[in-house]
Amino acid sequence: MLYDFISLADLEAGDIYDLLELAGSLKKMQRESRVYHPLEGQSAVLVFEKPSLRTRVSFEVGMFQLGGQAIVLDQVHHRLGERESIADMARNLERWVDGVVVRTYSHEAIVELAEHASVPVINALTDKQHPCQVIADAQALSEHKGDFEGLKVVFAGDGNNVCASWMHFAARIPIHFVLACPEGYEASPEVLAFAQANAPGKVEVTHDLKAALAGADAVYTDVWASMGQEAEQADRARAFEPYQINAEAMALAKPNAVFMHCLPAKRGSEVTDEVIDGPQSIVYDQAENRLHSQKAIMVSLMERREDGLTAKRSHRGDVPQPAGRDEPRSGTNITA
Ligand code: CP
Ligand code: NVA
Repeated sequence: MLYDFISLADLEAGDIYDLLELAGSLKKMQRESRVYHPLEGQSAVLVFEKPSLRTRVSFEVGMFQLGGQAIVLDQVHHRLGERESIADMARNLERWVDGVVVRTYSHEAIVELAEHASVPVINALTDKQHPCQVIADAQALSEHKGDFEGLKVVFAGDGNNVCASWMHFAARIPIHFVLACPEGYEASPEVLAFAQANAPGKVEVTHDLKAALAGADAVYTDVWASMGQEAEQADRARAFEPYQINAEAMALAKPNAVFMHCLPAKRGSEVTDEVIDGPQSIVYDQAENRLHSQKAIMVSLMERREDGLTAKRSHRGDVPQPAGRDEPRSGTNITA
């Protein structure tokens, strides 16, 4: 049972397969223009400390399509915890909204928010993880490749947030995941150790991109300098230059390999135009699936059960419905 969506490390394989199945159904319903409003009357607040195109639009549209409402809180000028404590923020938000979607620098800030909020908290990217991205990626990968069993996914680039969530995915699902990166840009030792200890397939790190690409079913890359790392751009460009995914690199993978990128891309740096615009690229399928897979995540976390509570509130058993949500008592006339 999912109460928050903070890290793929918290999910079992069954949770991941359930989300992907629901995301597929929701995509089909949307394609057929079928109206489905399981979150009617519910609100989610989207809090952004960093810029966003895909995450912001897909969550906002997703809430609308599910019959609910999204409120965007643009927090780019100060960080969570600066204006008031994160606990106080949680204790306010839970009185008004049914879900909190957060993009922060600090991963610990989201964990703290989730601990204090009785409503589900969804990680929309931190410096350490990007779990929503990887569920959308997995949906796109399975649409193009079918079963995950034995698929070789090569991630060329920085072992930070997107890569870490891929490693968590590989800790549950039987793929062969390889991070190919320059020295000093490996995934955190904790993430790598967790993935390698739990992987039903294989998780590896190498500095040899060419060798890694042999037999790859999917080649993934991400920007060399993530949001917040702009000052390191020049140093990183030098270190990552041999890891560019261009036509020569793609030719080392399987002929039917797909190219993947979470976007936004720095064209000409981590990927060339010929690859991202080429026939093997599935980057816009990944982007589209942000909508469907995040709808699946929100429905799983926010749909009310028969007792009127979401899974998290019911599990905690400590928080009443927000004021005003009860059915009006018959005969009550609030204007009297
Ligand atoms: N991939 C992704 O999260 O994109 P945004 O930064 O535009 O939300
Ligand atoms: N690693 C990138 C991902 C953007 C979606 C960043 O954190 O900026």
